[in-house]
Amino acid sequence: MNIARLLCVLTAATVLAGLRAGPATGQPNYDENKVPDYTLPDPLVMQDGRPVTTAEMWRRERRPEILWLFEEHVYGKPLPAPPKLRFEVFDRAGDALGGTATRRQVRVHFAEGDGAPTMDILIYLPNDAGGPVPLFVGLNFYGNHTIHTDSAIRLSDKWMRPSKPFAIVDNRATEASRGRSERWPVELILSRGYGLATVYCGDLSPDTADRFDHEVIRLFYEPGQTEPAPDQGRTIAAWAWGLSRAMDYFETDEAIDHRRVAVMGHSRLGKTSLWAGAQDERFALVISNNSGCGGAALSRRRFGETVGRINTVFPHWFCDNFKQYNGNEDDLPVDQHMLIALMAPRPVYVASAVEDRWADPRGEFLAAQGADPVYRLLGTDGMAAEEMPPVDRPVTSRIGYHIRSGGHAVLEYDWLRFIEFADQHVE
Ligand code: GCU
Repeated sequence: MNIARLLCVLTAATVLAGLRAGPATGQPNYDENKVPDYTLPDPLVMQDGRPVTTAEMWRRERRPEILWLFEEHVYGKPLPAPPKLRFEVFDRAGDALGGTATRRQVRVHFAEGDGAPTMDILIYLPNDAGGPVPLFVGLNFYGNHTIHTDSAIRLSDKWMRPSKPFAIVDNRATEASRGRSERWPVELILSRGYGLATVYCGDLSPDTADRFDHEVIRLFYEPGQTEPAPDQGRTIAAWAWGLSRAMDYFETDEAIDHRRVAVMGHSRLGKTSLWAGAQDERFALVISNNSGCGGAALSRRRFGETVGRINTVFPHWFCDNFKQYNGNEDDLPVDQHMLIALMAPRPVYVASAVEDRWADPRGEFLAAQGADPVYRLLGTDGMAAEEMPPVDRPVTSRIGYHIRSGGHAVLEYDWLRFIEFADQHVE
């Protein structure tokens, strides 16, 4: 093929890909009047058309079916649990944070041998608990050492996405990275009787499209395989898998009440906390903060970020099959209200921010509300609000929701709501 013809073919391919991706390359829609008409799949109707009429039928038939649909079309098949995990508690301090807390750092080895992949869990527990404590667990974006200035936290040596605010130099954390994240009010959480555990997401899969050879995902390849199959999980699947491995550890630690663990995540890591909570029912409460497209927001609304845009800019997050729905959301057999329904009857909390239009706050509310019939079928209250609540007026029914003032972030306001919600719903 000569160069001119090759260029012509490449241009045609690019134009086609652009058309398929629809608004991926155009301006995002922020106009409520331009949201297309759409019909959501009914969480209480089986794919073969049978209505789901009992809690038993939900549990035995529809729930597994929806989970399978999300695996097949959105997040990919999960990585299997490894046959052997080894927990190496390499730091155990009873006098952390001025004597108020116990700190543990646990290295989880996913396979035998020195070169096997690992992740590090950082855990703080309040010292005045007087028994096993409930805790919040969430992945962080730039290393455990960023969540607090405590100099005993091991500095991550893993690959990191470039970031000036987090003092990442040449894709590595530096001493100056310590305590840079404002998203984790550790003392506040502990003062309310909860522990906090966190893991750097990059321990599980680096957040970049060109590194699928990452060791955790590779651990589960067939001989000769070099990248995940179209229906196999990629980065979000690996991240969610890591949260379950953290839960495996909590089950072994007597200081932790593993029946009262809330999984929380922000943004791409909020998409992940939802997927982790959907798959792993050991999480007693699931919290999504500003998770948007591919998280709590309805895909069919195409408001702010769209399926086409997310799959183009972050081709490594979802399974390849999800790309079939670029600009083609109405063909999806699921929408994100069904992901939230997979938490039922456990409490679930969706948090939006009014200026975070990219994440489509209304779409997040509507998805939370769309899970309501499943919660009611299972005999709990669902979403108490019939309309989207005003800014800063949380809804605290079993499906909780708030839209706070301000932008895309995790603020103390959010944490206070999560803690109050956990106090109310996690017995
Ligand atoms: C981008 C992306 C979002 C994601 C966010 C984040 O804005 O488009 O889908 O939630 O990053 O993770 O911060």
